[in-house]
Amino acid sequence: MTQHRILVTGGASGIGAGIARHWANMGDDVLIADVDDALGTALAQELGATYRHLNVTSEGEWKQLASQHKPFDVVFLNAGVASGENIFAAAVTESVFEFDLDNYRRVSSINIDGVVLGVAHLADAMAKNGGGDIVVTASMAGLFPIQADPIYGLTKHAVLGFVKSLAPTLIEHNVCLSAICPFFVDTPLVNAESQALIRETGFDILTVDQVIEAAQTAVAERSAGSQWVIFPGLPVTKAPEPALLP
Ligand SMILES: NC(=O)c1ccc[n+]([C@@H]2O[C@H](COP(=O)([O-])OP(=O)(O)OC[C@H]3O[C@@H](n4cnc5c(N)ncnc54)[C@H](O)[C@@H]3O)[C@@H](O)[C@H]2O)c1
Repeated sequence: MTQHRILVTGGASGIGAGIARHWANMGDDVLIADVDDALGTALAQELGATYRHLNVTSEGEWKQLASQHKPFDVVFLNAGVASGENIFAAAVTESVFEFDLDNYRRVSSINIDGVVLGVAHLADAMAKNGGGDIVVTASMAGLFPIQADPIYGLTKHAVLGFVKSLAPTLIEHNVCLSAICPFFVDTPLVNAESQALIRETGFDILTVDQVIEAAQTAVAERSAGSQWVIFPGLPVTKAPEPALLP
């Protein structure tokens, strides 16, 4: 059996931890990269994986990582944050549009730069090694509005724009860039209070395992530029492209 080299950013918790667990259980060589060193180290020990500190917003740290590891076969650019402590925390505002420049830069840097820098520093080596897959954890908030956290929505639309625009070029070099777009998932990003609010609207919360299924689909299908939607009660589906585009 071929052992693949896998990288997962934000791999210490939630969806990233689920991805790390799944691919480690498959016998692959998994590198968990995160800023939460305690959680990441403990998970890596449990899974027989490797942990390294990586702040996805730091180009220097990306350069170091790229120079110290062989090209990856599959990269999950998954690290991401909401504007508040959880996805609905930003909803409580005192002005019509609560804005904090530092927080805006923090969220956009993790959610956008963290994806762009990852592709920028890993894709070339992957291509020269014969190819691979890069799967970005976007969100349904990249396809639809998210009134509770517009800055989060902005960042997720941005990464989908990047994925769709760059994917046709990368696939010419056998690097498949695609995205997964989950509805709300049971992770620390969506705390119990937020989950209760979502359930009040009549929708269920996804499990991490349901998101892993979409990540597996993205890697198995190798459909460049695709946005795999995961919605409670529905099978993993590709978001349709507007018919007007060539
Ligand atoms: N939970 C949801 O409902 C949901 C829905 C759709 C998309 N997503 C996306 O899924 C991804 C994972 O989120 P999650 O729900 O598992 O949340 P989580 O909070 O459980 O995990 C996020 C991980 O990212 C890490 N991280 C934060 N800043 C970082 C940085 N600068 N560098 C490296 N790592 C950093 C955190 O330490 C944490 O381990 C995010 O991109 C999120 O936007 C989540």
